[in-house]
Amino acid sequence: MERILLLTPNSSDFMKKTKFCNIILKQFPDGENYVRIPVEFAGRDVTLIHRCYPEQDRSLMQLLLILTTLKEGGASRVRAVVPYLPYARQDKLFLKGEALSSKIVCELIGKSGCDELITFDCHFLKKEGEFTYGGLKIRNISLSQQIISYFKKKLHSPKIISPDEGASYFLAKEKDRGVMKKKRGEYSEGKSIYRKPEIEVGFEVKGRDVVIVDDMVSTGSTMLKAVEACRKLGAKSISCGASHGLFLNNSLKRLKKAGAKEVIVSDSIKSPASKISLLNSLTELL
Ligand code: R5P
Repeated sequence: MERILLLTPNSSDFMKKTKFCNIILKQFPDGENYVRIPVEFAGRDVTLIHRCYPEQDRSLMQLLLILTTLKEGGASRVRAVVPYLPYARQDKLFLKGEALSSKIVCELIGKSGCDELITFDCHFLKKEGEFTYGGLKIRNISLSQQIISYFKKKLHSPKIISPDEGASYFLAKEKDRGVMKKKRGEYSEGKSIYRKPEIEVGFEVKGRDVVIVDDMVSTGSTMLKAVEACRKLGAKSISCGASHGLFLNNSLKRLKKAGAKEVIVSDSIKSPASKISLLNSLTELL
């Protein structure tokens, strides 16, 4: 079966050498999305790479249009690589009538013709491997080893820490590790939905080089609480690593100000802290 690789413009950096990007994405005057795939794909095995952040709503809509066009145009098997899967954190219901967005988004992707979704440290999966969620086959790849190795090359025997149970799978191979306890408080008032985290450490960090790892830094509140707690408890140095860096609320700067010596993330979302490239994992995959 002939295989082809398709990239959208927001992911062209993943194939730097060729500046590959063969899907045309435009907008109509009213803001609606236009998609065109100007290459022959009927009867072929297609791998599509498309970032879905920032502008997650627009990017998801583009993804659904691309997938449906591929499937209806006769592509034989379609794999979509979405490095950071948006809406993955809305995987539990707290209040009556809430939307289970993570599942709805996966159902939409599957129903649009995606045979397999490949993503990295997907929030609701909480471990590496192959899963089916919302009827969609998902391969979840963890960047934990790449993040931890980055710091192990720089620090002598650091303690590797996760700020909550959810990211504790990052530490599976670590002997010297610590899992903090995180509780989310009440929903904040106002337009945005957010529950502030409270963190309990529960292990020694005094005089140690510590590396705090998580699946993502979004508003940065979790990482900030973890950094502040380690600083108060006398850690010698504090470094932070996460797979995805959204860095809302100026949190990259705030983390450094709070005492983080270095903050790194992958290029699933491009940022000044993107030190881990997905290129290796993607090259292996393709
Ligand atoms: C939550 O369980 C995740 O693992 C992250 O800790 C969290 O989503 C980070 O969000 P924020 O940066 O807004 O605290």
